[in-house]
Parts: sequence; structure tokens; C-alpha cells
Amino acid sequence: MPNILQDDFSKLEYEGWTRVTDLYDKSWANLTRQFIEPLLNTVKIMPGMQALDIACGPGYVSQAIYSMKATPIGVDFSSSMIALAKKLYPHIEFVEGDAQALDFPDASFDVAVMNFGMLHLSKPERAMAEARRVLKKNGRFGFTVWAGPEKSPAASVMFSSIMKYADQDVNMPEAPPSYYFSDEKLTTELLAKNGFDNISFTDHLVEWVVPSAEYLFETEMNAGVRTAAFLKRQTDETLSKIRTAVIEGMKKFYDGNSYRLKFCGCVVGGTRK
Ligand SMILES: C[S@@+](CC[C@H](N)C(=O)[O-])C[C@H]1O[C@@H](n2cnc3c(N)ncnc32)[C@H](O)[C@@H]1O
Repeated sequence: MPNILQDDFSKLEYEGWTRVTDLYDKSWANLTRQFIEPLLNTVKIMPGMQALDIACGPGYVSQAIYSMKATPIGVDFSSSMIALAKKLYPHIEFVEGDAQALDFPDASFDVAVMNFGMLHLSKPERAMAEARRVLKKNGRFGFTVWAGPEKSPAASVMFSSIMKYADQDVNMPEAPPSYYFSDEKLTTELLAKNGFDNISFTDHLVEWVVPSAEYLFETEMNAGVRTAAFLKRQTDETLSKIRTAVIEGMKKFYDGNSYRLKFCGCVVGGTRK
């Protein structure tokens, strides 16, 4: 684990991502990969560009950049994620490192992207400043985060079940709110404060087709990190109530064959001044 990550939330995230690395590809990746195209459109990736894929996980975004004839480097703090990325895409460079203390010189990339990484950081504003530092002038930074439950029907089922039944006072490490960057005004202000202009912020609704009503809850429990940690701190009785409520809430997504869960994400971009 990189030295800088000594706060409890980073430790939780590090242990979590290391534990679920092998499950990620079969679960969340089918959802998060749907944001790669809008994310790369936001940063206007072009052949020949040098691109940094921050919190790269198994490297899907890097591979998409590579297939567009640009040159990606993927960075992630989890050694198991980096090992998987190197195995899946041996022609791409992947390195271990912290998004909040990037080990790259100033002004070395044309583009920096982070697909669903910001919401896992204890100091996301530091990551924003780091992205700016490693970008060349007029280089573009893009990232995705989940939209709040009010815009995201499937996330809303999970959120409302947790709000209704969970003990909110269980001991979780201090961290920024899960939906911090889904607030357009706040995100725009933070990007401007950190030296970006031409800021764009768009919502993107996708469908995650899953086989059962239990799938979302089980995936949160087994392949999730922050929500899993919160759920695992609940009593068995509470957990059972949340599980039942989520399964019940999934019924509205059933199409007679599978469950079409609708999730909304925010695709954010800014140009380094
Ligand atoms: C939801 S996954 C997204 C992976 C990938 N970007 C994708 O689109 O599939 C979040 C990733 O963030 C990484 N991560 C979390 N905190 C990090 C940090 N401080 N520095 C670098 N990577 C981090 C995790 O290891 C994990 O691979």
C-alpha cells in the first residue's frame, strides 16, 4: 500500500479493492464500462495523445484509449488491480500509485481521466489538483461519478432501503459524502478553483441487465467496497430487512426475462488553464 494512504478510509478502500479484484470484471465492470465512451468524448481523445488513466482498475479505459491510437498509462493503488490490468492488456503500461500523489512530472499528459475513482478517495480535491499538475496547458481532465439517487432509479432502491432500515451510526471511517461530485454547482466550483475552465457536466443514464432480483444486493455485499463495509456493520436482523426491501424494489425493473436496472452517472470535464 502506498505510504501516503494512512487514513482509515483509504485503508478500507485499499483492502476492499484488493479483495474484490477478481469479482469486479464479472460484476460492476458491465455497468462502469458503459461510461467509457462518453468519458473519452468529454476529453476529446485524439490519436497520438499521451493519456493518464487514474484509478484504472483492470484497465478497460486504458485499452479504449489505446484502440483510439493514443498512448495510455494506467495507475491504480491496488497491486492486484495492476496485476490484472497487466495480464489483460500486456501491451499497455500500468503502474501502482496513489491518485492523490501522482508519481509523474508536471505537464506530462494531454489528457487525464478517472472512471469512477473520485468517489473512492479520501482527498478527492487533492486528486483534482494532481490531475491538473500532470496535464499540459489546455490538456483535458475528465471523470465520472454516480448521480444521486433522485436521478438514478436502481441506486434509489438501495439508498432508500438503507435510509429506512440501517443503523446510520455504525462506526465508518471519515470520508467525503458518496455523492459529493454529483452536485454540479459544487463540482464546477471545485474545478474552477483548481485551475480548470471549459467545464462540462452531463448526466448519462444506462441500463445494467442482471439475472435476478437478488443481484444488486449480493453484488454490493460481495463485490462492493464502501457500501459493503457499511452493510457488514449492521446486525443480521437489519441486514435481512434491507435485503428484502432491495429485492422487492427490484421488481419494477423486471422485463419478464431479466432485470434492467437503470443507473445514472455524471460525466465531468475541464480544461487545464
Ligand atoms: C470502481 S473501480 C474503477 C476502475 C476503472 N477506472 C474502471 O473504469 O473500471 C475504482 C478503482 O479505484 C482505485 N482506487 C481507489 N482509491 C485509489 C487511490 N487513492 N489511488 C489510486 N487508485 C485508487 C481502486 O483500486 C479501483 O481499481
